[in-house]
Amino acid sequence: LNNGLGLTPQMGWNSWNFFACSINETVIKETADALISTGLADLGYIYVNIDDCWSASKRDSKGQLVPDPKTFPSGIAVLADYVHEKGLKLGIYSDAGIFTCEVRPGSLYHEHDDAELFASWGVDYLKYDNCFNLGIKPQERYPPMRDALNATGRPIFYSICEWGVDDPALWAWKVGNSWRTTEDINDTWASMTTIADLNDKWAPYAGPGGWNDPDMLEVGNGGMTYHEYRAHFSIWALMKAPLLIGCDVRNMTAETLEILSNEEVIAVNQDSLGVQGRKVHVSGEDNCRQVWAGPLTENRVAVALWNRCSKAATITAAWGTLGLESSTSVSVRDLWKHHDVLEDAVASFSALVEAHGCEMYVFTPNKVSHSEI
Ligand code: GLA
Repeated sequence: LNNGLGLTPQMGWNSWNFFACSINETVIKETADALISTGLADLGYIYVNIDDCWSASKRDSKGQLVPDPKTFPSGIAVLADYVHEKGLKLGIYSDAGIFTCEVRPGSLYHEHDDAELFASWGVDYLKYDNCFNLGIKPQERYPPMRDALNATGRPIFYSICEWGVDDPALWAWKVGNSWRTTEDINDTWASMTTIADLNDKWAPYAGPGGWNDPDMLEVGNGGMTYHEYRAHFSIWALMKAPLLIGCDVRNMTAETLEILSNEEVIAVNQDSLGVQGRKVHVSGEDNCRQVWAGPLTENRVAVALWNRCSKAATITAAWGTLGLESSTSVSVRDLWKHHDVLEDAVASFSALVEAHGCEMYVFTPNKVSHSEI
């Protein structure tokens, strides 16, 4: 969507994956505090997004949405002020149907009132879900909220959560700043790998202003190993997915924080070229040795060697699969070890990768010296 937002994939936190409906204003404030104290905000994680269950079960007598008086007694505007003072932004959630997925009031046919209300509260981001949609096509239900948000005059990031039902990549780039391409993620290796493959299919449709959304991060929620979470984060970054943290940032392990804070991996995600990296080569049993790659600014290439096999494996990236001439010399930077591994690699690059691990690199073409020309 050409509303000036989402020129790179959105970064922040969302309440759903860890808290589900167990949210309240204290959790939101403490999360904002933690994003600052951990340094995550400085790395770009600026959206604090409240998901489903913030609202009371009924609209008020004037037909307006109201925050749940038990869990959000101070209201949403106070929270927006709170996060804005810290340099963060506030996100909220509604639904392009008559109820949200947790059966709170939806915004279908209330688009203008609700967009006005969100803007008056100082909301910066709307995730717009797809439950209880009366069987009306998403192409008819999502644009009215775009227009209503636009009419408020406040820049509000518009995240379409249509679960990939009606191939949103084909139409949602005119409607929203990102669109979910799949069903909900869960905190397992099987879910994460399946979703990565589904999202890969839509790569050509992503770009500045509109991103494929393979759902929020599960890093730190406990259902995967350290190496699996590292792979999850690496591939989401390479796919130019939104980097929305889904764990309890008030209580992270050092390993979780290390993964989420990898500046070099984040830089791949936020590269201004905005081209979604893809699965470019597979080999081995069940195609479990995988090379994922995509172009970056300055003719650099981001490369992930992802071992989806159950044993350690050597994985090779050949220049032909990366869009490089085989004679091109590149220097290779390891984004997890944070050091330069080779100054002059030609034709192919191989590494031994742990089971379910993912190594990630940036290849920078070396300048051809005049004597060689
Ligand atoms: C749907 C969405 C999730 C989450 C829940 C909330 O399942 O896909 O991301 O927002 O609803 O109820």
